[in-house]
Amino acid sequence: MGRAFVYVIVGGGVAAGYAALEFTRKGVSDGELCIISEEPVAPYERPALSKGFLLPEDPTRLPSFHTCVGSNDEILTPKWYKEHGIELLLGTRVRSVDVRRNTLVSSTGETISYNFLIIATGARALKLEEFGVEGSDAENVCYLRDLSDANKLATVIQSNSNGNAVVIGGGYIGMECAASLVINKINVTMVLPGAHCMARLLTPKIATLYEDYYSSKGVKFVKGTVMTSFEFDSDKKVTAVNLKDGTQLPADLVVVGIGILPNTSLFEGQLIIEKGGIKVNSKMQSSDSSVYAIGDVATFPVKLYGEMRRLEHVDSARKSARHAVSAIMEPEKTGDFDYLPCFYSRFFAFSWQFYGDHVGEVVHFGEYEEGKVFGAYWVKEGHLVGTFLEGGSIEEYETISKATEMKPVVTDMEELAREGLRFAQTV
Ligand code: FDA
Repeated sequence: MGRAFVYVIVGGGVAAGYAALEFTRKGVSDGELCIISEEPVAPYERPALSKGFLLPEDPTRLPSFHTCVGSNDEILTPKWYKEHGIELLLGTRVRSVDVRRNTLVSSTGETISYNFLIIATGARALKLEEFGVEGSDAENVCYLRDLSDANKLATVIQSNSNGNAVVIGGGYIGMECAASLVINKINVTMVLPGAHCMARLLTPKIATLYEDYYSSKGVKFVKGTVMTSFEFDSDKKVTAVNLKDGTQLPADLVVVGIGILPNTSLFEGQLIIEKGGIKVNSKMQSSDSSVYAIGDVATFPVKLYGEMRRLEHVDSARKSARHAVSAIMEPEKTGDFDYLPCFYSRFFAFSWQFYGDHVGEVVHFGEYEEGKVFGAYWVKEGHLVGTFLEGGSIEEYETISKATEMKPVVTDMEELAREGLRFAQTV
């Protein structure tokens, strides 16, 4: 005989934290909600791990970045969960789920039953081994997905001041970590498979500006190649990284950011999986009516584009969490999840936000210089569908978000470039 809850959330990351707050706002009663998390700490704002957490001075530490501080909301400490009658099972992995029987088994062997299950298992970092490279478990090779990864990276950084780091991957994890390494006085070489950083989102013009700045800070870029193997010393520490093009890069530490894989394995064969995630409808409800999925692990309909998408961004985790809770607790009052994709990143003194879809034709606007406001619009079939803005104010980000959501007609691309931000302000 195990315990029974009305609501169980499996996973204790960003989405779980925002769901918990929403449950209390909708009036969950004491003892009705249980959150089960493999991590030893209460839900926190994961983006902090590659930013404030890695600073050499006054680094951000828990409890200051527990959810939901990222939305300027309450900081939910373990005490908060207790005071709200929420059972927080930390350091506990869910081993199996039986969706038909509404039960799960935890790593402690306990069977827990639920009326509603919310899947918030997020994703895990892809390992080099999955691409045929061995040895990434070495003590000076770091991934960055959770707090234990961040603690390891912070320790390795501290013991390698003035050393050489190789960053594998040019996505936002690679870019943010490279900036943090530079700030920690470490020499950085970035290895990117493509022609420029963040190639999936940034245009060559935007990427070039950021890369030039990184170069001015001493960062070296090796592009269009991948790593093939490590060199080790007798302690099994990595000493160098070998690239496919024959180059060997000396390394005191290595940071790997090569993508993520959603944690769906508990549900394979039980729920419909699409685009790598748990397929849900516009209420975040899966193919089983008592199971919902939120955050990085959910593939949901993006109404604005008439497409199923799985997004790996914190804003989507927060908002999908609130929506699922609302759909469960107030089904009559909850409409379809109508989400405008949003993504942001920060490195050095740069800070940008992107809204919508990066498809179609691009126009750039603003002053392409460090410290200035600049951006880009994406236009598809005569409508604005995506906007990128660097260095904007809160109001300007709100403006571009609203304008992008409205998909206004664009007739003249040159005029759009000339108008720049004014276009969004006058939509
Ligand atoms: P999340 O990964 O936060 O949580 C999943 C939780 O489930 C984890 O605690 C995990 O341990 C747990 N879990 C998994 N399987 C389990 C099991 N079987 N049993 C129990 N628990 C289990 N986004 C953005 O828009 N801008 C940014 O700047 C950044 N920056 C950033 C930096 C870093 C370092 C990372 C890793 C990520 C970002 N992100 C980001 C992405 C953002 O953090 C991400 O989209 C959200 O954390 C997703 O929230 P979820 O709750 O879905 O997963």
